[in-house]
Amino acid sequence: MSEAKTVLDIQNLKKNYGSVEVLHDINIDMKEAEFLVLLGPSGCGKSTLLNCIAGLETINEGAIQIGGKDMTQTPPGERDIAWCSSPMRFTQPCRWVKISRSV
Ligand SMILES: Nc1ncnc2c1ncn2[C@@H]1O[C@H](COP(=O)(O)OP(=O)(O)OP(=O)(O)O)[C@@H](O)[C@H]1O
Ligand SMILES: [Mg+2]
Repeated sequence: MSEAKTVLDIQNLKKNYGSVEVLHDINIDMKEAEFLVLLGPSGCGKSTLLNCIAGLETINEGAIQIGGKDMTQTPPGERDIAWCSSPMRFTQPCRWVKISRSV
């Protein structure tokens, strides 16, 4: 049987905001059909990591491969993935927007 394909490969990722190192040394090898959960207290860096993967934040060190391609320097619109951080989510239903358009 062939080995499952790696869909997300993060190597030695570091992310600083100024002098504060928020992501220290992140390594992820996520295979096709795997389900990955980021769990941790508020402020530990979950959203920052997702922003880095999506290309919404630059990283200070390391590399990000998506679908086998190095995307470390690729702009967000060319990564073929997306995520929406919590401040952009609707916290209350908008009656004037259909549900299908809100998600
Ligand atoms: N744009 C930014 N500039 C400076 N510091 C930031 C910025 N964004 C996040 N941080 C800091 O980085 C750290 C990680 O924040 P992040 O939002 O990634 O945490 P989180 O795990 O997603 O938290 P929560 O569970 O509350 O969503 C926090 O200390 C936060 O204050
Ligand atoms: Mg968050």
